[in-house]
Amino acid sequence: NFEKVWLGVALLLIVGFIATIAYGSVGAGISMVDDSGGTISAQAVQSGETGTGFDDPGVVKQSDDHYVVYVVARQFQFSPGSGDNPIRVPADARITFKVTSADVTHGFSITETNINTMVIPGQVAEVSARFDETGTYGLVCHEYCGAAHHTMGGSVEVV
Ligand code: CUA
Repeated sequence: NFEKVWLGVALLLIVGFIATIAYGSVGAGISMVDDSGGTISAQAVQSGETGTGFDDPGVVKQSDDHYVVYVVARQFQFSPGSGDNPIRVPADARITFKVTSADVTHGFSITETNINTMVIPGQVAEVSARFDETGTYGLVCHEYCGAAHHTMGGSVEVV
């Protein structure tokens, strides 16, 4: 009867949506691993409190297959990431980006990938990925953060 037909159509649509979302999360060349966060005192970041990982931000090797990148965003740069201080990580390893802000809300987006998160003071945005290919990727702040927002960017070198 018709009810069963429509129920079937609705189920197909739901399955289709889920498949679309699942497909969308796996971009060309990179794969997302997880996406969880944490909190941190904004004052601790601003004052460079030790032991947070953000007092000396950069790439920390956990194992041959896992690297954590601590990044501090502030008006109007990423450290590391901006200027002559690119983020340099190896291909074919799990890379966990932990990003926080020392001032206002920023964005953290890596071009040609699905890495794209808001960076909120007091919180740690965490996203993991695996780069299959070497190359230089653009790093972009995609949340309005002040007069020079459009200049806030950098690069990620996968070697
Ligand atoms: Cu930082 Cu826009």
